Amino acid sequence: MKIGMIGLGKLGMPVALAMSLKGHDVMGYDVDSRKMQKTRFPHQEVGPNGEPSINLLLRDSNLRFGSLAEVVHHAEIIFVAVQTPHQPRYEGVTPLPPERRDFDYQHLVEAVRSVAQAIEAVDEDKVVIVISTVLPGTTRREILPRINHRVKLCYNPFFIAMGTTIRDFLNPEFVLFGVRDDEAAAKAEEFYRTLHDRPFYRTSIENAELIKVAYNTFISMKISFANTLMEICHKVPGCDVDQVTGALSLATTRLLGPQYMRGGMGDGGGCHPRDNIALSWLAQNLGLSYDWFENVMLCRERQTEWLADLIEEHHQRRGYPHRTVGIYGRAFKAGTNLTVGSPATLLANILLERGFEAQMYDPYVDEGPCPFNRKGVYFVATNHPDFARESWPFVAGSVVLDPWRYIAPRADIEVIPVGIGPDRIPVSPVFTLDGKTPAFASG
Ligand SMILES: NC(=O)c1ccc[n+]([C@@H]2O[C@H](COP(=O)([O-])OP(=O)(O)OC[C@H]3O[C@@H](n4cnc5c(N)ncnc54)[C@H](O)[C@@H]3O)[C@@H](O)[C@H]2O)c1
Repeated sequence: MKIGMIGLGKLGMPVALAMSLKGHDVMGYDVDSRKMQKTRFPHQEVGPNGEPSINLLLRDSNLRFGSLAEVVHHAEIIFVAVQTPHQPRYEGVTPLPPERRDFDYQHLVEAVRSVAQAIEAVDEDKVVIVISTVLPGTTRREILPRINHRVKLCYNPFFIAMGTTIRDFLNPEFVLFGVRDDEAAAKAEEFYRTLHDRPFYRTSIENAELIKVAYNTFISMKISFANTLMEICHKVPGCDVDQVTGALSLATTRLLGPQYMRGGMGDGGGCHPRDNIALSWLAQNLGLSYDWFENVMLCRERQTEWLADLIEEHHQRRGYPHRTVGIYGRAFKAGTNLTVGSPATLLANILLERGFEAQMYDPYVDEGPCPFNRKGVYFVATNHPDFARESWPFVAGSVVLDPWRYIAPRADIEVIPVGIGPDRIPVSPVFTLDGKTPAFASG
């Protein structure tokens, strides 16, 4: 099919590439002309078959670029993947501000307005599918008044995680489709049938808006719960959080699947914390009886404060003559170079408020040598897979706090696995019934 992609950012570009790899004729447009190139995608993304980067696939693909008018003229279906940002203080890297806000919809409104205008100019009906994340009620309030009868609007948010966008797009649990126009939905379903046979869930646009953010915030809720168990296990002699969550992860009928059910850092990324904060705004705006989303965010914040307490405790115990703490890992989750919404940054900001200097380093993010050069407390904030194997840059005589429990003990540093109580029993891998260790992933 002839497809258009408006907005070639972290979501739009890999998805446009995925469609093109499946044989569709995809043309993209971005207001930022620097995005319309196939030489290099600036974020870490794996390919559909596990290729470590999408750069080669992109270069060799048939994906093309054009002006807005050319894309609209070309496409039967036009996807819109432009940003709906929050200010940095609503991204979850600072303590929760007392007042809340909705997302900023100006880019999305402008994009849909200009697409509608270009469609009117070609004088043909076109299916326009918004992917961007919005709160429930936004399309009705902000988008519908700006379109014309030629625009067959649908809302189709994706449940993809950064780093595995293409894989997640091509292998979703289900396709969520908010519909106003049955013909447009039928055309979109026909398109999705060329990609996979997963359920196509049709519902109202408002329901789809709510389902999307509810999915994200459910993940934050699960992570906060697992981290509550981590804190209990750290304090109760004989407890081990991995053994506790490993058992709960087997309860896939009455509880839930194993993903995200693991003690570690709080939830992060460009979607989950900010969606919680925006839903907290909505909860207040609607006068909900209880602001559950504030609860999840404050839980994440208090847990990060508790990790800062642990750092302080070990700093004092060792009597280091300085106020520097080394934070190893800045990316918001393993295997990515993105730092947006990172709980590591939240931890650094909390330490800063307490008079510490947080020295951060992440080989996935930072170019240049690791700056760690003094004995002190180090904290492993991101569980990059190769961190567990590589030679650590910690200075001999230091204490290393490991909330992932994956650093092997070493003679010259003291490793404290967070989430294993005093009087600990040896940690052994926890296996699911099919013999595999539970899979963990994040937003
Ligand atoms: N990144 C993700 O993993 C992810 C996952 C699910 C949903 N989302 C949602 O998708 C949307 C896009 O996210 P992103 O991370 O790709 O954002 P991004 O900022 O990386 O990319 C947005 C792109 O849209 C372009 N743009 C802005 N206005 C435009 C216009 N009028 N016409 C054409 N292009 C325009 C920008 O220049 C930019 O390149 C957001 O609402 C986000 O919440 C993102």
